[in-house]
Amino acid sequence: MAEKLLLRALAGETLQTPPAWMMRQAGRYLPEYKATRAQAGDFLSLCYNPDLAAEVTLQPIRRFGFDAAIMFADILLIPQALGADLWFVTGEGPRLSTITSQADFDLLKPADPDVVHEHLAPIYETLRILSRELPDDVTLIGFAGAPWTVATYMIAGRGTPDQGPAHALKNGNRPLFEALLERITEATIEYLSAQIDAGAEVVKLFDSWAGSLKGDEFRRYALEPTKRIITELKARHPNTPVIAFPRQAGEAYIGFARETGADCVAIDNSVDADWAAANVQIDGCVQGNLAPSHLVTGGQALVDEVRRIKAAFSGGPHIFNLGHGITPDANPDNVTLMLETLRS
Ligand code: CP3
Repeated sequence: MAEKLLLRALAGETLQTPPAWMMRQAGRYLPEYKATRAQAGDFLSLCYNPDLAAEVTLQPIRRFGFDAAIMFADILLIPQALGADLWFVTGEGPRLSTITSQADFDLLKPADPDVVHEHLAPIYETLRILSRELPDDVTLIGFAGAPWTVATYMIAGRGTPDQGPAHALKNGNRPLFEALLERITEATIEYLSAQIDAGAEVVKLFDSWAGSLKGDEFRRYALEPTKRIITELKARHPNTPVIAFPRQAGEAYIGFARETGADCVAIDNSVDADWAAANVQIDGCVQGNLAPSHLVTGGQALVDEVRRIKAAFSGGPHIFNLGHGITPDANPDNVTLMLETLRS
């Protein structure tokens, strides 16, 4: 059996048709996802139910035939494993207990492997089910949030437009801020390592808010923790590729793979594909970068943009994806059109 397309691209091979998957491919734009989520009760119950989490992971594979499946879970399960309270407010998003003082931090659990694995055992079970049930040509992707992005939620207790509370803690109590990043980094290494043991063939680090760190702080709090996680994972699992997604990194995408050891850099849609081909793809595989809004509007503009991105990255290894997650108002027919265009 030939090696899976996604793994070939991650190994640096230039393919005529790039492998494709979508961030948030299991999500509310699919009626079958909404039905299974209703069956689970709520979002977190779905994450911690291995049979149902595997089912929603498989739904977009069955419907569209993507080249990769990303396990169904959330980046905020790590804070919960460390003892933070976590809940989701429908229509608004996540809420967590906040960390703004040493006393708050002292309530967190240590990042011991046993602590992490006890809480996250259902996620590993989801991966084991998926390893058995996925078609032979589909790659299984595990993931975690990068430490800075996870910290922004732990500090503020919710999503924030400018990550203001996290910047305030960083500037006002740097030792505490750095201790929190360290705790998350250690837990993330154990979590991703166990995901690989449970069947993840690739892991991805989501640094959704990396773009709000500039200059030296980008290096210290986005690049360095990513590098540390990848270095440790490569020591334990040398053959498992890692995708890094320092969203909105802009110029800082240049050299990010080289410096962190990532096998692929995922780029958001604020970056032009021709620029990324010239400046980022020179170091290896890139993933991206269709604007999710095209899957709402569809039509000729979608077709033209898929062709343009495919052509821009055709000179090197490329994984076709969106620049960020697909939105609940997207039309599934546009996903079909996207894949038909890419593969024709
Ligand atoms: O299909 C997949 O991509 C796999 C599953 C996945 C989810 N979240 C499921 C989810 C993945 C990889 C994530 C990552 C994630 N979660 C990120 C990083 C990527 C990004 O989007 O920037 C972040 C920041 C989170 C935290 C999070 N989870 C937020 C802010 C929200 C609320 C916003 C929203 O989209 O509703 C979630 C909820 C969430 N995670 C949903 C899904 C499918 C929607 C929940 C629902 O069904 O009601």
